Amino acid sequence: MKLITIFLEMATFIILIPSVQSTLSHTSLLEQICRQSPHYHLCTMTLRSSINHRSKEDIAGFARLTLEIVKANASLTLEHVQKGYIQQTNGLEQKRAMRDCIALYNMIVNVHLREALNAMEKYDYKIVKQRVYAASIQAEICENKFKNSLTKPLKDTNRYVQNLCIIAASIVNKLLLQNHLTSAY
Ligand SMILES: *[C@@H]1O[C@H](CO)[C@@H](O)[C@H](O)[C@H]1NC(C)=O
Repeated sequence: MKLITIFLEMATFIILIPSVQSTLSHTSLLEQICRQSPHYHLCTMTLRSSINHRSKEDIAGFARLTLEIVKANASLTLEHVQKGYIQQTNGLEQKRAMRDCIALYNMIVNVHLREALNAMEKYDYKIVKQRVYAASIQAEICENKFKNSLTKPLKDTNRYVQNLCIIAASIVNKLLLQNHLTSAY
């Protein structure tokens, strides 16, 4: 009796594995990726909202998507800050902080995230990771420029850029691990 149960369980298990794997939808890959990232809710929210118009997604696709989303936000931020914030910003300290952040966001958008995306194309995930970390540090430095200010106009964006970069890095880690495993054979 017991043996039969065990046998049946094993049989179900063996039958289920391939079918589960083949029906792994985008959503469950997304879930799996985000569960291992340090910001689960931001991860699922961000990726789920952009995934629909894409036909095929894999781990690399999600990494690229995250980079594109954070780059879009950082680019718009840079534009807004360049256009309006400086004039609207009061006080010398605040103005100086904004000017520093423009330089930092320029680096984030036009150097680090651009090169991260280029490296994605070349499957050079080590470089992607380095660039993504560099971008997140620049956002942190920008935030620190407002340390002594009463208002922190870029607080939400700086946090968003940092968190999304961390999410991207955690996705890229999976790719690095995957590469490591396949090259071991
Ligand atoms: C970037 O994202 C942050 C956090 O969601 C948001 O507050 C900010 O408005 C966004 N910036 C742009 C330019 O969309």
